[in-house]
Amino acid sequence: MKKKIIAANFKMNKTDEDIKKYFAVFLDRINGLKNKTSFNDLDAELIFAPPFTALRETHKIIEPYLDFMKLSSQNIYFEKSGAYTGEISIDMIKSCGCTYAIIGHSERRNIFKESDELTGKKIEAIYNDGGITPILCIGENLEIRRQNGQEKFVERQLAVGLNCIKGRNVSSLIVAYEPVWAIGTGIPIKADDGEAMHKFISGYITSNFSIGEFRVIYGGSVTEANIKELMDNPHIDGVLVGGASLDPQSFYNIFKLAAA
Ligand code: 13P
Repeated sequence: MKKKIIAANFKMNKTDEDIKKYFAVFLDRINGLKNKTSFNDLDAELIFAPPFTALRETHKIIEPYLDFMKLSSQNIYFEKSGAYTGEISIDMIKSCGCTYAIIGHSERRNIFKESDELTGKKIEAIYNDGGITPILCIGENLEIRRQNGQEKFVERQLAVGLNCIKGRNVSSLIVAYEPVWAIGTGIPIKADDGEAMHKFISGYITSNFSIGEFRVIYGGSVTEANIKELMDNPHIDGVLVGGASLDPQSFYNIFKLAAA
């Protein structure tokens, strides 16, 4: 059975010191949840995406829990090495212990003007390299949603972003459907609308690509108040949490409600 994914995107938050404090609380709650030897029975996997500077510290802390806690970067650059000031390669994040990389987050697309094509190059580099599962973020803005163009819009993001795996078998992929209008606004998608989009995205991926295991997770104002309602839907395989993941108690509550 597919394990649910409960992922935390810390964005540009938390120094090493903050990470230590965070996990002192978070692991205390986790250790109270179950005996460490039986974490494998949990129905969910946790992914943490701290900033690049905190990857090593986070990895060091979660190392005893790697059977169900994984590390992700928030971005990568597609080139292996060279004169790309400010960029981070796949080898670099692997050397910090990452097994996932978030690609094409809407903040990268909107603030840093990353195109579908650049996202596609990053996905291609990840699959050519191996060893990392991409978390490809897609999602429409409010104007597109108002015009009911969301399916067409995410279809293009998927087609271009995943062009490199057309006609090729890959082992795993996570797609994070994050409607831009729901990110950081306190207004999550209605569960029914979310289920409809996830069903559409799953159908599109199944018809167009050959992927051993893929999951479609939801992001945008997820909290402990709405996690249950979202996770009750068959095509919502997990969540990518921003704001509510920054507080360890709140993220633990989300995890517990989702994994229960
Ligand atoms: P919020 O949970 O703060 O809306 O952010 C969602 C997000 O962008 C996760 O990647």
